[in-house]
Amino acid sequence: MPTGTATETRLVLTDDQVRGLAKLGTPLYVIDEGHLRRRIRRYLAAFKSAWPNSELTFASKANSTLAVVKIAYQEGLLIDVASEGELRAALKAGVPASRCHLHGNNKKPGEIRFAIEQGINQIVVDNFEEIELIGGLEGKKPDIMIRLAPGVDPKTHAKISTGQADTKFGFNIADGSGEKALLRCLELGLDVKGYHCHVGSQLLDPEAQVSGGELLAQFATDMKAKHGYETQVINVGGGLGVHYVGDAVPLSVEEYCRQLVASISKALEPSGLRPMLVQEPGRSIIGESGVTLYEVGVVKTVPSPTKGHRVYVAVDGGLSDNPRPVMYGSKYDLVATSGDGRTFGPTRPTTVSGKHCETDMLFEDVMLPEDLRPGDFVQVLVTGAYNSAMASNYNRYQRPGTALVRESGEAVLVQRPESWDEMFAREILPEGL
Ligand code: LLP
Repeated sequence: MPTGTATETRLVLTDDQVRGLAKLGTPLYVIDEGHLRRRIRRYLAAFKSAWPNSELTFASKANSTLAVVKIAYQEGLLIDVASEGELRAALKAGVPASRCHLHGNNKKPGEIRFAIEQGINQIVVDNFEEIELIGGLEGKKPDIMIRLAPGVDPKTHAKISTGQADTKFGFNIADGSGEKALLRCLELGLDVKGYHCHVGSQLLDPEAQVSGGELLAQFATDMKAKHGYETQVINVGGGLGVHYVGDAVPLSVEEYCRQLVASISKALEPSGLRPMLVQEPGRSIIGESGVTLYEVGVVKTVPSPTKGHRVYVAVDGGLSDNPRPVMYGSKYDLVATSGDGRTFGPTRPTTVSGKHCETDMLFEDVMLPEDLRPGDFVQVLVTGAYNSAMASNYNRYQRPGTALVRESGEAVLVQRPESWDEMFAREILPEGL
């Protein structure tokens, strides 16, 4: 259930911006730099005011375009990387490894070694194999955080629920694995900074993160009482939702941070512990600062057994640049812009499809102008997170570029559209085949 207040925080480009940006080629991801910087500053201020000893980490899996990672770093965020690739992206963006945290439920030994060689700040350990591996390495070791599975079932799509007991992530608290992991790390002389959890993503109701935070605080209290180990850090992961459609509005960051901190600090009170609190949001940092532009190619009316008829508008992208509708049934708001500057007539229910060789229905029954025609544009709102990051080459479509609208208003490409040469660069046709 939505629990937030209807605050309009989403980036929407003007018609003139759309027509100007479309000249860079569509489909096109667009990020607004000022919008992103303001969002980060607001989130940081909200968290600091709720708990001064706090830090924000940007979950770069949401969008690891180098320009985005660099802006997040410039604004004072740590960078959460979940793979060697994401760490390499952060390094290329000019972020020192000493500002990065490495995640992953099955990190390869090579990934762990690479991260340590680069001087990674923290490794969030997820399993006993990893603890033994790090413990056995020679030389300086990074700080360790222990990922815990608090046994919280968030109300979100099953594919993005991670905090429940039956999960591949982390050490279960209730069955004693979390305690064993802590003791083993300490036995190996690892510098354990504290505990981490991430319960799920696109959460409009903060209940799950609040309970996750409380369970970590209780665990910290128990470990102090039983073993004298005093945690210095509690990281409650990301998960705050964004405003995709309708009245499904998340809490404001101010209210979210307030509720989170209130419950964690209450749960910590009896222990006297005052750790640093960390959150690592991805979607709620970058999601609303981005839109995707498409050009309309085909408008078609077909008979429909249920509706009499259905209007299809086919745009020049789809499943390969935004798999989320097909993967999670995600819905988005759309805004149409005429290609020639004319004013649109009334709207009608329209189904927007992509151009892939399957039913990649992007948006069903959205209200779009009845005179929308080839050469017009649609911008899909709130596509800054998990869109360019999840793009593929399905049907051999080139992955779109990303434009950054600078604070001056100038738009620059920060990621070129993929070229044909790049698409085929990895192919090898063996001699004599
Ligand atoms: N920390 C950890 C350990 C995570 O696994 C995640 C997301 C985050 C932080 C950031 O969560 P956020 O604040 O963005 O919700 N592809 C899916 C989302 C998968 C999220 C996975 N983990 C989607 O498109 O909805």
